[in-house]
Amino acid sequence: MKGLVLAGGSGSRLRPITHTSAKQLVPVANRPVLFYGLESIAQAGITEVGIVVGDTAAEIKQAVGDGSRFGLDVTYIQQERPLGLAHGVLVAREFLGDDDFAMYLGDNFIVDGIKPFVDEFRRNRADAQILLTRVLDPGAFGVAELDLAGEVVGLEEKPEFPKSDLALVGVYFFTPVIHEAVRQLRPSARGELEITEAIQWLIDSGRSIRSSEITGYWKDTGNVADMLEVNRQVLEGIEPAIEGVVDESSEIIGRVVVGKGTVVENCRIIGPAVVGSDCHVRDAYIGPFTSVADGCRIVGSEIEFSIVLEGSSLENVGRVQSSLIGRRAKVTSSRSVPNSNRLVLGDHSSVQIQV
Ligand code: G1P
Repeated sequence: MKGLVLAGGSGSRLRPITHTSAKQLVPVANRPVLFYGLESIAQAGITEVGIVVGDTAAEIKQAVGDGSRFGLDVTYIQQERPLGLAHGVLVAREFLGDDDFAMYLGDNFIVDGIKPFVDEFRRNRADAQILLTRVLDPGAFGVAELDLAGEVVGLEEKPEFPKSDLALVGVYFFTPVIHEAVRQLRPSARGELEITEAIQWLIDSGRSIRSSEITGYWKDTGNVADMLEVNRQVLEGIEPAIEGVVDESSEIIGRVVVGKGTVVENCRIIGPAVVGSDCHVRDAYIGPFTSVADGCRIVGSEIEFSIVLEGSSLENVGRVQSSLIGRRAKVTSSRSVPNSNRLVLGDHSSVQIQV
């Protein structure tokens, strides 16, 4: 059995971060979200993995390499344009050959991994197996309709009037019959070849589709709120480790990681939180559910329930929370009159200013 990881999407809901970097590489507890998926694939006993990449191919290749660090043998498959999940299967045809495969969307996050589902697929080997989970906003996902016996009878992509609250999780298991299904597809209203429609084609052709419900934690990290939530969830399970230097006037409470080369002076850090390596944190408060990447400066400021990417700084800015701050961003204060905010924001940035 092979693995197929889709990491070609454009990540429009995470702009501006995704103008310059792949959405699958946005860090959760200071590690790219994609790494958690690759680990769960390896843990399920799958070693041959194809990663479908798009515009951000170079960055993903640099981060993942040949996959050996995850115990995987990775092949990259170039997708010229993000034309949908089923298009990802089309372009991976040669890599997949006639093997069964698990397809994993690179921005999905399943805390408990996928091993039980891989095992179930291997045992029962339906033509396709899908994972479902109950959500409050099914219209934002692919939605399954089950009959009274629990059989999947219909699937719809982002329906206006969802027939259930069971959303398709971005992990699918396929036998080679899926290749016939994806060849039948025409672009959907959003201009994509939908894997949801390919599975519907299998249902209509009388093929066997199994579904299992995920009850544990799952998120599609497509937007900032979900990203912060996944970060919170992962931080809940971190092992504390102080490798940097924390001075005597600082207070560290709960599960906190402070990386090598980081200096913490006169601060209060309340876990769960991670501060990467080579950071300078002074006269600051870092509150729960915060991940600060390597090389950041947090001075005279407070931050909580947030993700800060590499090399950014917050200096004398009061309190910041529920924020996602990109790489090498600078947030500073000014004492000038008139009392105004000066902003240099990238395209599609969003800022909330306290008034
Ligand atoms: C995709 C699928 C959708 C599924 C979701 C899970 O949506 O099309 O059926 O529920 O992934 O993450 P997209 O992220 O492309 O909007």
